[in-house]
Order: sequence, then structure tokens, then C-alpha cells
Amino acid sequence: MTDRRPMSAIEEHLTFLGRFLRHPRQVGALAPSSRTLARAMLQDIPLTPGRRIVELGPGSGAFTREVIRQLPAGATFLAVDIDPQFCRELKARWPSLDCECGSAADLSAMIAARGWAGADHIISGLPFASLPAALSRSILAAVQSVLLPRGTFTTFQYIHAYPTPPASAFRREMDGRFGPMAARRAVFRNLPPAFVLSWRQRDSAAR
Ligand SMILES: C[S@@+](CC[C@H](N)C(=O)[O-])C[C@H]1O[C@@H](n2cnc3c(N)ncnc32)[C@H](O)[C@@H]1O
Repeated sequence: MTDRRPMSAIEEHLTFLGRFLRHPRQVGALAPSSRTLARAMLQDIPLTPGRRIVELGPGSGAFTREVIRQLPAGATFLAVDIDPQFCRELKARWPSLDCECGSAADLSAMIAARGWAGADHIISGLPFASLPAALSRSILAAVQSVLLPRGTFTTFQYIHAYPTPPASAFRREMDGRFGPMAARRAVFRNLPPAFVLSWRQRDSAAR
């Protein structure tokens, strides 16, 4: 997939800031993630033929670009964002990208509509710390129900916000659903620096 409308860094930052000013809690960050963070998000994910990859909250495409760069033929990729402007821009850049404009809470229906048995790997840029708690719970319930056994869920939290109650509550919720966090990696080349966190679906997930 080629990038039909590559954005300059300034253009991408301005678009992102504009969406943040309009929907601060939904966007949850002032700027898109760095390429270093994007690479760290994918570092432990075996992107091999046959895998089904989902990205939640692609925004302006910081992680999307890296997934597309690494995606082999025979792997499938679905991106889900609730913001119609982000979705339009993603489709303008990568016309063959399977991008669904809707809530991640409806992920089970999106997966079923594609005839997939589930997802092998889910990466998320969703701002769980600023989303309403009930919405976060329903998104995580959907993630739990579609993630295939041994599948992974990878997200990030900013290091400065890591000890805050919403961030801790999110990790507790994840540990409750999937067991202890599988990996944590610090990424300093991002503004602000972040931890990449991942959990693994149990072998015999009750789905
Ligand atoms: C912090 S931005 C992340 C963008 C990008 N992944 C990055 O790291 O630069 C969060 C994204 O989540 C999207 N989002 C928020 N709530 C959502 C929901 N319920 N379902 C799907 N996307 C959502 C926002 O529209 C926004 O694009």
C-alpha cells in the first residue's frame, strides 16, 4: 500500500492539534506519536502472513504507517477510528486501507462482519485515561471477546501520567481480564515519553 498523500510533519501536527481542540477527551493527546514509539508498539508483534491485525484509534496514522510498512502479503489489517475527519484522511492516504469509522466498542460486530474468527494482534492509541470509564470498559470487553488465544493487546501510557489513578485503574482492569502485563518498554523518543504495555490473551480464552 503506498501513501498517496504523504503529510509533512507540520501538516500532521496541525491536523492533530485541530482535532484535539475540537474533541479533547476523545483525542487525548496534543500531538501524534513519534516513529520511534510506532516501532516500539510493533516490536514484539510477529507480523506474518495469515495474521489479523487491528488498530484502534489510528488518528493521523502514526502507527498505521508503520503497520503498513511492515505488513506482509497475506496478513490482514483493520483500522478503527471514531473521528470522521481522521478516517477521511486515512482513506485519502491509503485508499485500499480497511478503515472503519465507528467506535472501538463495536469491534466484535466489525470483526464478525468481515467473517474473521477473531484478531491475532490489537494495537491501540485510544486515550483510555480520558475516555469515560463505562466506554473504556465496553471497549476492553470487546477486545477481550475478539482476541484469539495467545493474541496480544498493545497500548501506551505517558510516563508522567503512569502513576495517576486513571492510568492505574486501566492497568488493573487489563490485569483482571488478561492476567499480569506481558511486557513494558520505555520509549524516550516521543513527546511526551511513554511506556509501551502489552497483555496476552490466555491460551483457552472463554470467548
Ligand atoms: C491519542 S489519539 C492517537 C492517534 C495515534 N494512534 C497516535 O498515537 O498518534 C486517539 C485516537 O483515538 C480515537 N478514538 C477515541 N475514542 C474512540 C473510540 N471510542 N473508538 C475509536 N476511536 C476512538 C480518536 O479519534 C483519536 O484518533
